[in-house]
This record gives sequence, structure tokens and C-alpha cells, in this order.
Amino acid sequence: MKTILITGATSGLGFEAAKQLSKQQHEIIVLCRSKENGERTISELAAASGNKKFHVYTANLSSQKSIEQASKQIKNDFGKIDVLLNNAGGVFSDFQLSEDGIEMTMANNHFNYFWTTYYLFDLLKNEGGRIVNVASDSHYRAKKMDVETFYKNKSHFVLTAYERSKLANVLFTYSLAEKAKQYNITVNALHPGFVYTPIGGKTENKFYAAVWNAFSKAFALTVEKGASSHVYLAGSQEVKDTTASYFHNCKAKTSSCISYDKDVQENLWRESERVSGLKFL
Ligand SMILES: NC(=O)c1ccc[n+]([C@@H]2O[C@H](COP(=O)([O-])OP(=O)(O)OC[C@H]3O[C@@H](n4cnc5c(N)ncnc54)[C@H](OP(=O)(O)O)[C@@H]3O)[C@@H](O)[C@H]2O)c1
Repeated sequence: MKTILITGATSGLGFEAAKQLSKQQHEIIVLCRSKENGERTISELAAASGNKKFHVYTANLSSQKSIEQASKQIKNDFGKIDVLLNNAGGVFSDFQLSEDGIEMTMANNHFNYFWTTYYLFDLLKNEGGRIVNVASDSHYRAKKMDVETFYKNKSHFVLTAYERSKLANVLFTYSLAEKAKQYNITVNALHPGFVYTPIGGKTENKFYAAVWNAFSKAFALTVEKGASSHVYLAGSQEVKDTTASYFHNCKAKTSSCISYDKDVQENLWRESERVSGLKFL
């Protein structure tokens, strides 16, 4: 049985993945925004799975300091984890800067994964360590990684910002997979499909939120289907040696052309290190 840390498990795909993985009797660490929400989540997970191995830690995942503090506590309590499932993400219709001065979509969706992975990386250095990054097929529409948009409002548009952050997830996955080979840690990304969750309904713009809610309710997949690749990549023996791949419906597929560009991957990596004041691999 594996110890699996899941971010964003209080809602949507993360909750469903945690439920299915806890039914397989894995030990689940929930890293979420508030203790209260985390406790509610694990009691629902326990009731659904019969599993009792749950732990809750809290962090604002758009904040480097908050992730660092939570990671310290997790490292105090755990000698190792087997799987880090970077799943938490969001959609931001208005341009706003995070407490680290980074455009919120990029802070919440890319730097979140970068920092969580950096601060917990030592715990994954064991037989069969896995990192799974939840990306999206919306990354295909991002044609470049303009670093200036990380800090400046260059005609911010909700979908463009989201697509860019999801391209960052795929670029980060491929860079990290290469660098983590020396530790036998695998790193893969996934697209869950278009799934009925509250994600788009949480954005500030009420019109976008209403459109998302109506459209996704009518046309999107259920979370049970959407979380299948989460569960497969986190738990299946079939993918124990698979790395640097992009999955949808539990099958590897080709990601966008730009996502394979080594220069773009390396630029994003160096910029992420620079802004964070970290040297990561
Ligand atoms: N739904 C889709 O169609 C779809 C398609 C492609 C990819 N995805 C990706 O799937 C992942 C999960 O999304 P979802 O659709 O399941 O959305 P969701 O139901 O809104 O779940 C997102 C989760 O992330 C957490 N989260 C977000 N920002 C956080 C922060 N700063 N600190 C702590 N927790 C934070 C949320 O907690 P709170 O509730 O406390 O905010 C929630 O638990 C995301 O990476 C998303 O980009 C979704």
C-alpha cells in the first residue's frame, strides 16, 4: 500500500481520486486550504471507503511560504511518501498578483506544483517514488510561454491565462522527469477530460461562472470518469516505470509541440527557480 499526498482533495477530481485510492486502502495525505474543510473531507472519505488512514495538512497553495511551512510539518511526521499527486488548481478571471507577486493563475496552477514538489522531493526519493501532475488539453491552445505575463497585466484573459498555466504543468512534468531519473522517481502529467466540477464556477466574474456551471452540467463527464487517470498513474503497477508521458483516459498521448521544446522547458524551470530563490535539481 502506498502513501499518497493529494492536493485539492476537498473538491471535484481530487476528492474523487482520493476516494478511489482510499478504497484501494492506500494511506492518504490531504493538503488543503483549511483544517475544517480537510477534516470534513477525510470523514467523507472514511465513510465512503472504510479506510482509516487519512491525514490533513493545510496550506494556501498559491503561496511559497505557506507550502514551505506545511511541507516542514509533513517531513516531521513522515519519513517517506510514495506518490505526490499535484491536482489543486483554479481559474481567475481578474488579473491579480499572489502574495509572492506572481499572476494568480500562474501562482496557483504552476508555482503551486513547483513549490510543493520542491519542498517534498526528499520524501519521494525511495523505491517507486511517483509524481503526477494534473494538466489539461487546454494547454494545446497556449502557443508560447511569455514570462512577462507572470508579473504584468498584458491583456489578461481568463482562458489564455489558464491555458498558459496548464502548458506550464506539461513543460514542468517533462523537465522534472528528466532531472528526477537519477532518483528513480517517475513524473507524468494527465488530462482528466472536460469534467463537471465547481472549478469554473469559483471565478470572480459571475457571467463566466454561470456559463461554466450551465455548460459543464449539461455536457461534461462525471468525476468518476475524469479521475480515472489520476488513480491509474498514482496506483497502478502497469505504469511503475513510465515517465515523461502525458495521459488521457489511462493512455499515453502526444502533448503539444511546444511542450517538447527543451529551451522552453529549461527557461520555465530557470525562471521558476529564480523567482522562488531556489536551486532545484
Ligand atoms: N474540471 C475540468 O474539466 C478540468 C479539465 C482539465 C483539467 N482540470 C484540472 O483538474 C484539477 C482539479 O480541478 P477540479 O476541476 O477538480 O476543480 P475543483 O473542484 O475546483 O477542485 C480544485 C481543488 O483545488 C483546491 N485549491 C485550489 N487553489 C488552492 C489553493 N490556493 N490552496 C489550496 N487549495 C487550492 C480547491 O480547494 P478550495 O475548494 O478550497 O478552493 C479544490 O480542492 C485542476 O488542476 C484543473 O486545472 C480540470
